[in-house]
Amino acid sequence: MSRVEHFKFSHTQAVDGTYRHVTELAEAGLVLQTGSTPNGRTVEIQGKSYLNFGSCSYMSLEARAELRAAAHEAIDRWGTQFHFSRAYLQCALYEELESCLGSMTGRPALVAPSTSLAHMAALPVLIEDGDSVVVDQFAHASLHTALRLVPSAPLEIVRHNRMDRLDPILTRLAPTSQQIWYVADGLYSMLGDFADFDGLRRLLDAHPKLRLYVDDAHATSWAGARGRGVTLEHFAADPRVVVVLSLNKAFSAAGGALALPNEAMKRRIRRAGGPMLFSGPIQPPRRTRSDAPLRPIAPTIAARSGPSPPTTSRSPSTAATASTTAGTRLSGTRRARQRASFSGARRSATPRGS
Ligand SMILES: Cc1ncc(COP(=O)(O)O)c(C=O)c1O
Repeated sequence: MSRVEHFKFSHTQAVDGTYRHVTELAEAGLVLQTGSTPNGRTVEIQGKSYLNFGSCSYMSLEARAELRAAAHEAIDRWGTQFHFSRAYLQCALYEELESCLGSMTGRPALVAPSTSLAHMAALPVLIEDGDSVVVDQFAHASLHTALRLVPSAPLEIVRHNRMDRLDPILTRLAPTSQQIWYVADGLYSMLGDFADFDGLRRLLDAHPKLRLYVDDAHATSWAGARGRGVTLEHFAADPRVVVVLSLNKAFSAAGGALALPNEAMKRRIRRAGGPMLFSGPIQPPRRTRSDAPLRPIAPTIAARSGPSPPTTSRSPSTAATASTTAGTRLSGTRRARQRASFSGARRSATPRGS
């Protein structure tokens, strides 16, 4: 089966269109600005002060003294960069960070240099020969880009949050698919609405082959128990759901983090996920949430186990961005192993921190 492409533009037409659109916005003074933000609440551009509705730092944690001090400490301890590919040698901050994120999410956590690179590492490993993919039309551009690294998987784009349309697609794909991956955002960067978590729960119950891969970048840190985002509030214990958090936005550090259902899946992505092997590390000062500062902040996060946010509220997020870093497609048949890891997870998926 081939890919279902609803929008047919040539590559150069797409680049030209993007260029024209961004140029118009830049000329209107809406994008590509240079400025500063003295306090997070306002931005200064060419001597004028504006109210800030465009940042993704929803908690202004970057202003906290502990985080700043820890960034200095990390430079003193590790230098401005740790000059190894993580494939060869990782500095100890990674282990600390993944352990802290494990406590925060209740799942094995695997950190990548960015959310986009986390998708590029994980999706080609998770989606196997014989699997199909359905992606929400407004899933973040980095997901659409990463899915291009798996060209052999039949892919369909479904209208935004339309569970009524997804349901018959799953029924149709089931006889010819080993697994069907639904790829979505937890909190949509383009629209500011949430995924239909109740609808997805019903579909998971009705379609045993369904797997979810959810990018919860915009809900990380401010939503959910310990700031684990909104998706894990619904699916932390479900071995069929992979969740990705951002460490760049409200978390105020750097990178992306996969919250995985089991250790076997983590090991597999760490060892075979393209950017895990060819990409550089997150530099030490940017990993400061793993160092001393997470300790003072951790109780704050741990204490914050309030109710899930309403499913219709809007986030202050700005338009999505795309990353076009090339990745590698890893070949080979690993179905049995991954099936085992899913079912192993089913047996041992009790979240540690939830
Ligand atoms: C939902 C979502 N996912 C992924 C990304 C890309 O994040 P990163 O810059 O960490 O690759 C963004 C960027 O804004 C985003 O909004």
